[in-house]
Amino acid sequence: MKTVLLAVQILYFSSQVSAVDPNLPEIPENFLVGAGSSAYQVEGAWNVSDKGEGMWDRWTHNNASYFGSGGNGDIAADSYHKYKEDVQLLKSMKLDVYRFSISWSRVLPTGSPYRVSRDGIQYYKNLINELLANGIVPFPTMYHFDDLQSLMEKTGGWANESMVEYFADYARVLFRELGPKVKHWTTINELNIYCGYIFYHNETDPDLAFSARYRCVHNQLKAHARAYHIYNEEFRSTQGGQVGLVVHSTNYVPVVAGDVESSKIAFDFDTGWIMHPIFSMEGGYPEVMKQRIAENSRAEGLSSSRLPEFSPEWTDYIRGSSDYLGINHFVTSVVERVPKRNGRWYDDLGLRRTQLTTSGTRIYPEGIGAVLRQIRDEYYNPPVYILENGMAEGATFNDTDRIYHLHFYMKEVMSALNDGCDIRSYAVWSLLDSFEWVAGYTQRFGLIHVDFNHPNRTRTPKLSSYWMKAVMEGRKLIPIWR
Ligand code: NOJ
Repeated sequence: MKTVLLAVQILYFSSQVSAVDPNLPEIPENFLVGAGSSAYQVEGAWNVSDKGEGMWDRWTHNNASYFGSGGNGDIAADSYHKYKEDVQLLKSMKLDVYRFSISWSRVLPTGSPYRVSRDGIQYYKNLINELLANGIVPFPTMYHFDDLQSLMEKTGGWANESMVEYFADYARVLFRELGPKVKHWTTINELNIYCGYIFYHNETDPDLAFSARYRCVHNQLKAHARAYHIYNEEFRSTQGGQVGLVVHSTNYVPVVAGDVESSKIAFDFDTGWIMHPIFSMEGGYPEVMKQRIAENSRAEGLSSSRLPEFSPEWTDYIRGSSDYLGINHFVTSVVERVPKRNGRWYDDLGLRRTQLTTSGTRIYPEGIGAVLRQIRDEYYNPPVYILENGMAEGATFNDTDRIYHLHFYMKEVMSALNDGCDIRSYAVWSLLDSFEWVAGYTQRFGLIHVDFNHPNRTRTPKLSSYWMKAVMEGRKLIPIWR
């Protein structure tokens, strides 16, 4: 019954493709539409061959009760074994690009660049070859939250500057081994989210958590810039690709109408502090951030600011160190001013932020447009690749909410494109249902359903994937209903 219903709906979608509706935008030929995943969330095969232990392996094994359904990524969607099927699914939707990530512990089991796992590299070569053979652009991320456990133990993590060179070594191995066939590299995914999450959860002292978070982003920015310059100096002339990084970009709406300053400050403390060092003329962190954190640090009796400073050499080295800006967008938040108390700004920024949407609830498509236009206006209109946008739903096949979401977000992206924003891609998060960091398997973002109770991790296209296919066939958004 379900299949019959689906078939009827697909026919309906397809019949609409040619419908002339001037309000529904076309998707330009050179604009990449795709879907994404990340290594720990889909690969599984956590201990095959000589793979090292990842931080998430250790964490999930030691904290089984923490993860929604008690899950871990030991098998996940088993994409390590089923990557060919995944590529066929992408192809069946006629998608242009696959955004995936590489597992550090699979490629460098000990963290040393002298010990490259041949099996690990081969897996990614196979995936890339399979994508190319099917006409799909590979868009790998070097690092998507999944650290190598041994490096975490050696260094204490990203608040320690020695991580910068470990990452640089890893990046060089990836450029050398995989670069000949890759034209789009992302170094690091969502440094602002990773550093916030890791240190909020690991430190009991909130001030310590803040300063560790700042040092973590500081070091990840340096690590990113190291990878970018290594590419320039050693690989760009022969490989000719692009290197960028990905920021999680929230849209901020003021509680008090017209309080543009508050939304700008919230943006700077969240997203701007990643973009400003790279995409502004002067480099370094946004001024308001430097000022407010320095004031709080003084009020707390610290002899220097908790926000580290880049030396002039590092400022220059980081400024301009990206061929593009990658953004992920899920959330719009409201912001309101909080009065200073005891000479201190609330949470360093002086504002309270409350989420209006999360990745699984209400949608606010204007949010993605606002972020894109802000980037255009403040950062000299850099090329932007949207690498994640989507929503979570329960275990349904008839995911009309997702279709509704995708339709209106894509429409808003096309409108920003028409407004002169230099947007190059839109990738749905995610291709498959997968392990969702804190929520385990309880939140499903996929265009494709995965049966996590079945040993085969059976994949079943959801209605949204048929919608996507119909959109891609005409390269034009199609009508939706609810
Ligand atoms: C962004 C992260 O990069 C991704 O790993 C995660 O699954 C989605 N947000 C949804 O929470």
